[in-house]
Amino acid sequence: RDSPYLRVTPSMLRRQTGRRGKDAWTVLGGKVYNISPYAKFHPGGVPELMRAAGRDGTRLFGEVHPWVNYEGMLAACLVGIFVAEEDEVV
Ligand code: HEM
Repeated sequence: RDSPYLRVTPSMLRRQTGRRGKDAWTVLGGKVYNISPYAKFHPGGVPELMRAAGRDGTRLFGEVHPWVNYEGMLAACLVGIFVAEEDEVV
């Protein structure tokens, strides 16, 4: 419990689609990232990137470019860690 990271549950993640004024979040390797600030820099374009918005993008990401170092690129966009729904309530 002594983690400095926000604990993000599946239901929290599902609301972060990049629509309705909210940022787009995705999960990569168990970590949650805000991909909205990065979107305009994505070499594959915004629509491709947003396929991972509001859901776990790990598999999609790995299918397209497993060699990309997302941890380095998105370090400043780290939101927290992805946890199971039960952990939402303290
Ligand atoms: C290309 C980063 C997510 C689709 C790239 C490249 C980088 C990058 C660095 C260039 C790779 C290279 O040329 O070797 C990221 C990061 C992501 C992300 C940091 C974090 C979420 C995604 C997702 C998709 C996607 C979810 C969708 C399925 C693509 C495609 C290209 C690409 C199709 C190829 C563009 C081209 O060369 O024409 N991405 N990507 N990416 N990305 Fe992503």
